Amino acid sequence: MAVDSTYFRPRRLGHANLWVQDLARSERFYNQVCGLTVEFTEPSLVASFLGTGHTPHDLGMIETTGGKARYGRDGLLQIPEGIGINPGLNHIAWELENEAELVAAFKQIKHDRIPFDQTVDHQVAHSVYMVDPDGNYVEFYCDTVKDWRRVLHGPLNLISGAWDPENGEPFTDGRYDTNPAIRTVDNASVHPQRVTHVVIETAALPVMLNFYTTVGGMRPVWSAVDNSITCLRGSHPAYRFHLALCSAASPAYHHVSFELANEAALRDALGRLDANGIAPEKIVDHPSKRSFFLLDPDGLRSEFYVRRDPAFVDLSREPVELRPYLI
Ligand SMILES: [Fe+2]
Repeated sequence: MAVDSTYFRPRRLGHANLWVQDLARSERFYNQVCGLTVEFTEPSLVASFLGTGHTPHDLGMIETTGGKARYGRDGLLQIPEGIGINPGLNHIAWELENEAELVAAFKQIKHDRIPFDQTVDHQVAHSVYMVDPDGNYVEFYCDTVKDWRRVLHGPLNLISGAWDPENGEPFTDGRYDTNPAIRTVDNASVHPQRVTHVVIETAALPVMLNFYTTVGGMRPVWSAVDNSITCLRGSHPAYRFHLALCSAASPAYHHVSFELANEAALRDALGRLDANGIAPEKIVDHPSKRSFFLLDPDGLRSEFYVRRDPAFVDLSREPVELRPYLI
């Protein structure tokens, strides 16, 4: 792999997508407890897409498959046989500036014989899917419709079809919404503002770092003194980081993080959770942030946090298993 090549250059994390055992149960949890609006659903894929409005969804979820294949538009094999057996991370998605950058990066990975999985038209996005060195499934995409709520709302079937990146002239304008209408769920316990980052554990941090800086096109912004954690970011200036890689004995998806408006919003959320009998997995009060973690019905973890200054503090004296919670 030529390290000076330009591959994908994301702006930010677009969404995380989870495999869940019972779609209705998880949709209820993320909507009524976590405060994410159900923007659109895809009954034929057994999928729901929820968010705040910053991107077409902050969090997608697909019901586990029992090993059976699922198909999209025009017979697109969207979920091959044997995929999605257990709850967990399905994929993480990175938003690019425009289609021209996505297509140029796609052509470059093909030229350099870097494997990719598939290319897909999602009606409001074009996507290239590939697998990172740990086996995490990753999506690089560009928005294709600024007013995506006009296209995707309510239940829809066969949203996704095939996309040929090499057919036609790619557009060069950014079609992400720069002034989105943000939605919150009034009666939910938590009122998140936006998804900001994911935290992934890895037993091969240098290899993963190489992937996410070269193919993944992100920039390291901070590393722990002992190099056990590195945080990376895309080009969008209004985020501290978009991905944290943490050394661990074995690779694992740790959590996805949502930012809250302020510490009062965090205190109010904790109060409503308590009143509703929902106990956070963990509450963090740390120099760089205050946050709490919730486990969903499948035991998958989400963080809701408020940033503090300084942005990063040394974690190398913290127990290894705690560090992914503290970053
Ligand atoms: Fe996705």
